[in-house]
Amino acid sequence: METDARRVVYEALTLMEDTLADGYRSGLPVPEFAEQAPIETIGTAVTPPRAAAPLRAGSARSTSLPKDDSLAAIATEAARCMGCRLAAGRTRSVPGQGSGRPLVMVIGEGPGAEEDRTGLPFVGPAGQLLDKMLGSIGLSRQDNCFIGNIVKCRPPMNRDPAPDEQAACMGFLDRQIALLRPRAFLAVGRIPAQSLLGVKDGIGKLRGTVHEYQGVPLIATYHPAALLRDESLKRPAWEDLKLLKSVLDGQGHQQQ
Ligand code: URA
Repeated sequence: METDARRVVYEALTLMEDTLADGYRSGLPVPEFAEQAPIETIGTAVTPPRAAAPLRAGSARSTSLPKDDSLAAIATEAARCMGCRLAAGRTRSVPGQGSGRPLVMVIGEGPGAEEDRTGLPFVGPAGQLLDKMLGSIGLSRQDNCFIGNIVKCRPPMNRDPAPDEQAACMGFLDRQIALLRPRAFLAVGRIPAQSLLGVKDGIGKLRGTVHEYQGVPLIATYHPAALLRDESLKRPAWEDLKLLKSVLDGQGHQQQ
């Protein structure tokens, strides 16, 4: 999509979002839809090159892993990916962020407005709470976690990513998992839990026990945004974090 068209779509979606959010308009400037240098982070956020050759969904969902794969290569491909309709609305793709060899891969649903703007996962209020939750059991994105999402581009107005959008993006996540080989997964929210476990149960049913994804223990818990809305979910979320810690401790890992 041309730069002007992307800006128009962005402005329309932002207006709709702000209107739905109590009629409050944030007044944030519209981002520059122009080629920019990759931003340096401890993770792998990359601004999509404007004139890059588009990638299709199939290339993201490779069954065999590319040779000499790297987080940087995945980030670059995600930034150019045209594999689903979410590409049209993105400012930046959000490939993920974290330490080189993480103990835990935290997997959320998909970027929100702040993440779309910065290219980094979980940087809004929910992200700040997520960092506190992880810190309570000695985990952090700086030291021993990788924070990723099921979809790398923001669903408009923070709607759930559709099943075909999730499927189109799953190849990126599977490649990240193959590279990072985490000792456990923490799925935050219903969408990542359902998507990784291939079930339709609600998060209330999926949390509280140890599942597996690709032979690696997976614990599901409430999304931090849900905890911000409903205080009563904090206690079960804390139980889930303790369960995650006991899994890691059982593998002989010490956090901090
Ligand atoms: N919510 C998510 O699920 N992922 C993010 O990156 C931010 C908010």
